[in-house]
Amino acid sequence: MVKQTKVFLIGFMGCGKSTKAKQLASRLNCPVIDLDAVIVAQEGQTIAEYFAENGEAAFRKLESETLKNYPYPDTCVVATGGGLPCFFDNMEWMNANGSTIYLQMTPPQLVSRLHNREKRPLLKGMDDEQLLAFVEMKLAERDAFYSQAQLVVNAFDLDVEELMRSLDQ
Ligand code: S3P
Repeated sequence: MVKQTKVFLIGFMGCGKSTKAKQLASRLNCPVIDLDAVIVAQEGQTIAEYFAENGEAAFRKLESETLKNYPYPDTCVVATGGGLPCFFDNMEWMNANGSTIYLQMTPPQLVSRLHNREKRPLLKGMDDEQLLAFVEMKLAERDAFYSQAQLVVNAFDLDVEELMRSLDQ
């Protein structure tokens, strides 16, 4: 059973981490923290602007520091950026400091949900075909990290009640 302390939702861009985090937090009656939103508020610029100004390496460092230094309440649901589990020891840190759930989707499912590509610096300017190739490649690369989650759920059409039940298993 996944302990209901700090629940970290991880997975590829477009898998629904932010939405599911809000729904789960409301069901668990606890705060929700969206780490991308924390960075945006803290830096006073969007993730796309931060990438453009400072580059990806600086973003990954900031993202890792934000993950590890955020003053989390004892019980909360945390939505993470899609790349976060794949850098430094972030995945290990989340597994040691809370429960981790991988919201898994196939590349075509992800592509069908990735509409607003301009706000995501890694997807800027891609058409559907380029996006599918990119998602297939990146997901293959990231799978080794994502699959270290304590719980892996099929996130397509996932109902929050179903997610609640998986937490109790
Ligand atoms: C990224 C995912 C984004 C954001 C940044 C990089 C990634 O978060 O952190 O654009 O590397 O997959 P979402 O997964 O919330 O879109």
